[in-house]
Amino acid sequence: MNALRSKTPRLCLPSLLSVSSLLWALACGSSHQSGEPAASPEAPAPEAPGDASSAEAAPTGSEAGRKVDVALQAKSGSSLSGNATLTETAEGVKVELTIEHALPGEHGAHVHETGDCSAPDGSSAGGHFNPSSHPHALPSGDPRHLGDLGNIEVGPDGTGKIEVVAPGANLKDGDPNSFVGKAIIVHEKKDDGGQPTGNAGGRIGCGEIKSS
Ligand code: CU
Ligand code: ZN
Repeated sequence: MNALRSKTPRLCLPSLLSVSSLLWALACGSSHQSGEPAASPEAPAPEAPGDASSAEAAPTGSEAGRKVDVALQAKSGSSLSGNATLTETAEGVKVELTIEHALPGEHGAHVHETGDCSAPDGSSAGGHFNPSSHPHALPSGDPRHLGDLGNIEVGPDGTGKIEVVAPGANLKDGDPNSFVGKAIIVHEKKDDGGQPTGNAGGRIGCGEIKSS
């Protein structure tokens, strides 16, 4: 009996394998209620689904690769139309923006902080999305507003296209750096990188970024 009692606690130590530790808990729990609860010492933290930091080659499921399509509305009396596709990548959010019926030249483009394009002049979208309180800059500048996308160049045919990645941004619901719930604004003039918002003039296009 003594020999049996001295062996049993060792056998009941939690195994690294959760299945076997469960079996041991079931097998040992009723026959041997010694002092120590078996719950505390082990707890090999189950992989949190949101923690992809160490999973380098994780398949692109629901965690990575979120994608949102955005339709742009004309604002401030413009006849602009366009759309954007936002895709989560390892670096941040890739923004592919296409516009039509705009005046040739460069036009500032930003993600603004409020996903509301209801105002005729686009003012309802608020200021540049800037969760880290950085100064404004072009994409070549660092630091800058998270929503600073630089300029889209429109050709003689009135169409323009850019593809730009916003590093550190994402498309998660409720995340402080998420573009979801914000708005894409295209301006009448070029963003010159100046403070506070690049001197890009009025807002000729606006698109609300909604959860997919
Ligand atoms: Cu803007
Ligand atoms: Zn800015």
